[in-house]
Amino acid sequence: METESRATERDATQNSATGSKGTGGIGTDGTTRTLGRSGIRVSALGFGCWAIGGEWQDATGQPLGWGRVDDEESVRAVHRALDLGVTFFDTADTYGAGHSERVLGRALGKRRDEVVVATKWGNVFDEETRTLTGGDDSPAHVRRALTASLRRLGTDHVDLYQLHLSDADPVRAAELRDVCEELVGEGLIRAYGWSTDDPDRAAVFAAGPHCTAVQHTLNVLQDAPELLALAEESELAAINRSPLAMGLLGGRRTGAADGDIRSRPPAWLPGFGDGDGADPAWVGRIEALREILTSDGRTLAQGALGWIWARSPRTVPIPGFRSVAQAEQNAGAMAKGPLTAGQLAEIDLLLGR
Ligand SMILES: NC(=O)c1ccc[n+]([C@@H]2O[C@H](COP(=O)([O-])OP(=O)(O)OC[C@H]3O[C@@H](n4cnc5c(N)ncnc54)[C@H](OP(=O)(O)O)[C@@H]3O)[C@@H](O)[C@H]2O)c1
Repeated sequence: METESRATERDATQNSATGSKGTGGIGTDGTTRTLGRSGIRVSALGFGCWAIGGEWQDATGQPLGWGRVDDEESVRAVHRALDLGVTFFDTADTYGAGHSERVLGRALGKRRDEVVVATKWGNVFDEETRTLTGGDDSPAHVRRALTASLRRLGTDHVDLYQLHLSDADPVRAAELRDVCEELVGEGLIRAYGWSTDDPDRAAVFAAGPHCTAVQHTLNVLQDAPELLALAEESELAAINRSPLAMGLLGGRRTGAADGDIRSRPPAWLPGFGDGDGADPAWVGRIEALREILTSDGRTLAQGALGWIWARSPRTVPIPGFRSVAQAEQNAGAMAKGPLTAGQLAEIDLLLGR
């Protein structure tokens, strides 16, 4: 088991590998950000690894993945992202019932120490049948899940460990936070956070000294002022999931293939109607913003990411990807940078906010 001093030594090495410039705010080149109070530097854009987990489902057959994926293309996309300066990858043990972690671990290979890896725990699944079987908020499960994630990722530590049960009981969560503190002390994780859209729950984790992030939904159509305020007050990174509104802000309008969660959207997944394509109300709002989002030669997706960076210096969007082309386009958003304050105000006006 690793000592704290070895973990600290690793912090210094990895911070320099990922361009450390001390704590707080945006790097001078605009392409890096600090992961909350941890001082860990990451590229301003992370890559979300849900889709590359491939197909999985719950016990009723509800698809929970994004349909079939080509693992070799996923590996090529991760390599391209690394070459384009992406140093932050977000996955979860449950994506593809372990498959996403395995593919990410394989793709990173010897370059693992050049990057910051975030994963999540809390869901229970069967790797053989790729089926989600439930959740486990017990303290004992944290260590069990972490051991399995380390094995699948092929690493000896996770940089950011996140609770995946967004509605977990806050009293129980305080116990899980304390287990995370122990894991930091043992060098098995460097920092932790909660993936939740509830600021009160995120605040429970924020009380722990090594909590450094909250992961929550944020995109130009779904703002999250309370979570961004909490991130500011508590010096947390705001890691933004669904930054492209699950593909709608990338331009998707048609229905998704069988086995893709968007073809049978659960109640919590807005924007895709009954699964037969994009919801016209969402499309209308996106079209109203198209001209601003595609300013200065940006693609629609790049504009959506530019909105997130402009929204707060604490944001780190983590768009999903399934191809080298998407990896290139999303990484390319960093060179285009944030939208302007004036553009943000115009967007609010257009959306009646
Ligand atoms: N509870 C949680 O903790 C939680 C929940 C959700 C997400 N997340 C994390 O957040 C990450 C991202 O969120 P998300 O997966 O919900 O969706 P997202 O990032 O909003 O959308 C990703 C999808 O958009 C499309 N896309 C990506 N780049 C594009 C581009 N340049 N042009 C056009 N389309 C593009 C792709 O779908 P198609 O090409 O197939 O249309 C891709 O799979 C996940 O991978 C995961 O790491 C966490």
